[in-house]
Amino acid sequence: MNPDEAAAAFVDRETSLRATALVPEIRLHLATEVTPLWEATEATLEKGPLPPPYWAFAWVGGQALARYVLDHPELVRGRVVLDFASGSGIVAIACALAGAARVVASEIDVFAAAAIRRNAAVNRVDVDVLAEDVLDAPPQGWDAVLAGDVCYEKPMASRAAAWLGRLASGGALVLLADPGRAYLPASGLEAIARYTVPTTREIEANENRETVVYRCGAGFAAAAPASSLDSISPIT
Ligand SMILES: C[S@@+](CC[C@H](N)C(=O)[O-])C[C@H]1O[C@@H](n2cnc3c(N)ncnc32)[C@H](O)[C@@H]1O
Repeated sequence: MNPDEAAAAFVDRETSLRATALVPEIRLHLATEVTPLWEATEATLEKGPLPPPYWAFAWVGGQALARYVLDHPELVRGRVVLDFASGSGIVAIACALAGAARVVASEIDVFAAAAIRRNAAVNRVDVDVLAEDVLDAPPQGWDAVLAGDVCYEKPMASRAAAWLGRLASGGALVLLADPGRAYLPASGLEAIARYTVPTTREIEANENRETVVYRCGAGFAAAAPASSLDSISPIT
């Protein structure tokens, strides 16, 4: 078994196929508990400590963004789209179902990359996986970039905001969805939709999270983080 096949087998073994209440159109390989999967990840890769297995949950930001895209397919139809920090791939799959010309999902987690491929196949759509840190290079070539729940950690949120801000300044459509995480920039964002998103106490403090879909403007990168909001504390 090559590494890609082994990662796909791990995803199949450790998860079950389910849809979320907000996005019943998309089935995903999801876990119900964080800790056993996290331990299995470290045992399988024979290293640690590793980041949590984010890919095995549909985060509220991703769910809200996927819902918004499915209900407003004209935003991505015929366009070249990047789902930045794709996790399970829920947003990328929504973009493909909405008729995007090409969908790319970027991820730095090897099992997320495998999960996105598995989930795209289950939903019978084409999603190209870019298993690298796109923030290392100047953004180019995207008509639209979507980012669900990426403001949970300071270094990542700062780098992503700078990168997404450059894209927005260059004229790309940049959408971000967030429930008020600690490092969500406080300005440069236009709220365009709000959802009450069912989630699980396994990864959040509440069973529902009010989540906002924002359009990022040119001022996004320069914005300072808000201070009184929360992070993904249950598993970080
Ligand atoms: C909270 S999860 C959100 C996943 C998905 N967007 C969603 O809303 O369900 C954050 C994801 O960002 C990924 N990530 C972190 N830094 C990244 C980077 N520089 N490039 C791509 N993905 C990254 C993590 O591996 C993780 O899967």
